[in-house]
Amino acid sequence: MNMKIRLSALLVAALVMFSCQPKSKFSISKQAWGKADGKNVSLYTLTNPNGMEVKISNFGGTITSIMVPDKNGKFDNVILGMDSLSGYQKGVPYFGALIGRYGNRIAKGKFTLNGQEYTLRTNDGPNHLHGGPKGFDKVVWDATEISGPDSVGLVLTYLSQDMEEGYPGNLTSKVTYVLTKDNSIKIYYQAATDKPTVINLTNHAYFNLTGAKENVLGHELTLFADSITPVDSTLIPTGLIAPVAGTAFDFTKPHTIGERIASVKGGYDHNFKLNRTGEGLMLAVELLEPTSGRLLQAYTTEPGIQFYSGNFLDGKITGKGNVKYEKYFGLCLEAQHFPDSPNKANFPSVVLNPGQKYTQLTVYKFSVKK
Ligand code: GLA
Repeated sequence: MNMKIRLSALLVAALVMFSCQPKSKFSISKQAWGKADGKNVSLYTLTNPNGMEVKISNFGGTITSIMVPDKNGKFDNVILGMDSLSGYQKGVPYFGALIGRYGNRIAKGKFTLNGQEYTLRTNDGPNHLHGGPKGFDKVVWDATEISGPDSVGLVLTYLSQDMEEGYPGNLTSKVTYVLTKDNSIKIYYQAATDKPTVINLTNHAYFNLTGAKENVLGHELTLFADSITPVDSTLIPTGLIAPVAGTAFDFTKPHTIGERIASVKGGYDHNFKLNRTGEGLMLAVELLEPTSGRLLQAYTTEPGIQFYSGNFLDGKITGKGNVKYEKYFGLCLEAQHFPDSPNKANFPSVVLNPGQKYTQLTVYKFSVKK
C-alpha cells in the first residue's frame, strides 16, 4: 500500500469511528447533600443528550438548577436556587420546591368538609399558605431513580400523616420528575387518601431566563387566560372571576412583565383562569427572554396558573453564583387549582375522597427563538 492510500484509509477509519461514537446519553447521578429530620438528603443530577442538566433534591422535592442553552448554545441556570442544603434550611421562599398539601392560600386556615370544620396551621398573616409552616417543601421525600431510552427521572414519594399541618387523612403523594430529549421537564403528581381531604400540589420554581443576569421585567409573557380570580388585601380570592381584557392582566398577547407592573399594586401575584376547552394537557404559558432567545412553554392539566413576579424578594437572599435576589429577580408560573377553593363553592373542586386518584401533569419545555 502506498503512503497516499494508507493515509486515506486511516482518514476513512477515523471518520467511521467518529460517526459511530455513541451520542452522549441520558444520565442520572446522586450525591450526598446533608441531613434533614435525621434523614439523608441527596442531590440528583439528570442530563439529556443535548446537555440539558437538571438538579433535584429530595429535600422538598426541590429543583435547584436547570441548565439550558441560549440562542448561541451557551448554557446557564434559569431558576433561582441555593448552592447548599443549609441555604434552603435557613429559609427561602419556596425556591424550586414541591408545594403541598395545598398550593397558595386558604383563608384564615379554615375550611369545612362534609360538615366538619378543619383548622390548618397559619403562616401568612391570618392565612394558611403553601401547606403551612412545614409543608411539602420542607420534608424529606423518598427517592427512586428511573431511566429509559428516551428519558431519565426521579420518583419522589411522601406519606403525610392524618392531621399533618391540620389536614385530614393519611395522604400518599408520588411526584415523578422526568427529563426528556426535547428539553422538557415533566412533573407528574399522584396522590391518594384514606379520608376525605383537600389537595392542590404544584411546583414553585422561580424562572429567570437571563441566567440570573438581570431581573425578569424584560421577559415577554403570554398567558392563555381570559380571566383572573381577583384577591383582597390578604391575597385571598374574592370569589369573582374577572375578565382581563383592557387591564394590566391581559397577557393573551405577549407583553413584558415590566410594561404595566407599576399599575398592579404589589406586583403580579394572581391566579389566572386558563382558557380550557376540555380536560387534558394544554399550552398555558409562553415566556420569552428576548436577549438570550430562551423560550419556556408551560403545559398543564390544571385549571389555573399562579403568576407571581417575585414581589417579596428583597435582596436579603444571596443565591447561586453569589447573586442577590432583588425584587422581580424571578417569576413563578405555578400550575394549580384556584387559591382558597375549599371555601369557594364556585371554583373547581379540590376535594379528594378515599378510592379516588389525584393526578396533575405539568410540563416545562425549553427551547430558543432566534
Ligand atoms: C406564591 C404566593 C405569593 C408568595 C409566594 C412565596 O406565589 O402567591 O404570594 O407567597 O408564593 O413568597
